[in-house]
Amino acid sequence: MSTNTPPSSQDQFANKAMAWSARFSEPVSDLVKRYTASVDFDKRMARFDIQGSLAHASMLAAVGVITEQDKADIERGMSQILDEIAQGQFQWLLDLEDVHLNIEKRLVELIGDAGKRLHTGRSRNDQVATDIRLWLRNEIDIALDLLAQMQRKLAELALAQADTILPGFTHLQVAQPVTFGHHLLAYAEMFQRDAERLQDCRKRVNRLPLGAAALAGTSYPIDREMVAKLLDFDDVCRNSLDAVSDRDFAIEFCAAAALIMTHISRFSEELVLWMSPRVGFIDLADRFCTGSSIMPQKKNPDVPELARGKTGRVNGHLIALLTLMKGQPLAYNKDNQEDKEGLFDSADTIRDTLTIFVDLISGIKVKPEAMRAAALQGFATATDLADYLVKKGLPFRDAHETVALAVRECEQLGCDLADLNLEQLQKFDSRIESDIFGVLTLEGSVASRKHIGGTAPERVRIEAQRILDRTQG
Ligand code: ARG
Repeated sequence: MSTNTPPSSQDQFANKAMAWSARFSEPVSDLVKRYTASVDFDKRMARFDIQGSLAHASMLAAVGVITEQDKADIERGMSQILDEIAQGQFQWLLDLEDVHLNIEKRLVELIGDAGKRLHTGRSRNDQVATDIRLWLRNEIDIALDLLAQMQRKLAELALAQADTILPGFTHLQVAQPVTFGHHLLAYAEMFQRDAERLQDCRKRVNRLPLGAAALAGTSYPIDREMVAKLLDFDDVCRNSLDAVSDRDFAIEFCAAAALIMTHISRFSEELVLWMSPRVGFIDLADRFCTGSSIMPQKKNPDVPELARGKTGRVNGHLIALLTLMKGQPLAYNKDNQEDKEGLFDSADTIRDTLTIFVDLISGIKVKPEAMRAAALQGFATATDLADYLVKKGLPFRDAHETVALAVRECEQLGCDLADLNLEQLQKFDSRIESDIFGVLTLEGSVASRKHIGGTAPERVRIEAQRILDRTQG
């Protein structure tokens, strides 16, 4: 027998280490093997691969393509494989390329011919598409739970800080006073939109590709609706070519993950700023910070900084996946194997980040005096004075100019608007009366904005309660 002739075998897997199948005359090099294999990263989908296979086997038995005995053998074998994986005893082989072939090979070892019948009417193309969807659906459900927890933590802290006043900024310049509770609830809104996006994406994730086989469907009398039902899919992909090659759902998830990280990153940026001694609005619990190897006095907000940094990676995965798809002709191409690592990393990153931040929010120590002192600088109630004059009959544009003159005067005197006495204020407009002092205080300013979406403590309490009601498990 020449060395170029592969040994013949009844079993497609038997000589896998030597050549792909009987059709091939030489094996791939070790480098090509490593280059083309995905088992190192796709083995984490094993549980879902088995779930999909069990549903497929049940359907094959129901339509009479395999026997009930085959199905029972497959179930027994898969249950042992699940145990072996859980106990870390399963031998993952690079020679077997991916999670699908590794599990199938072991099944054949354990149960013989019934294991070889499992792949009837199926291809790894529709198999992998099914596995990713099952895996991603689970990740989405975990992320949804974490997003609800985030909102609850923010709402709880907002309730406790409904009356705490800090400067609200535009252009990072003091603009108007806001309550800290209101500021926190802005993030709860973002995380609620993130949850809505994931719920929407989940609808398109939750469709069954299995049955598309390699690309054209199969001649066996399969029952795809039965498989969909067994796997809890809401629908069946309606076109076999699209079913095996669509990765829109993964792109949508990566986009949603990128936005979650973007929101976490904005929050992180504020936490870092607020914790800077120059600002001093908050302190973070020690368990989220680390020290410096050289400067003994340092306590650095590592967790928010790192979350801000990891956002770049998650954004990158979205672009990578979009780029992966843009040139692919129908139907499946091996390019698609590259969909997983970025997707996995996006899901892992939001899962870890949200889990840490749920705890981090509980560890925020608020420093209301520093917030209040900052709000008293920078004429944060100037707009309130203008609005007061408008209510007394002055057109808004004139009121704006009048207050600008008053602010200028204060800057020269080195005082705040609320420090001017009535006589000084009346020089700017004779309509100003003693009720102005209620308006120029920080408390008066925030309390007056009690409409839906406003910063008033009264409104913050209502909104925080709405979030607590909405997210209760
Ligand atoms: N490991 C492959 C992937 O992740 C599974 C599908 C392989 N299909 C194929 N025709 N080579 O996409």
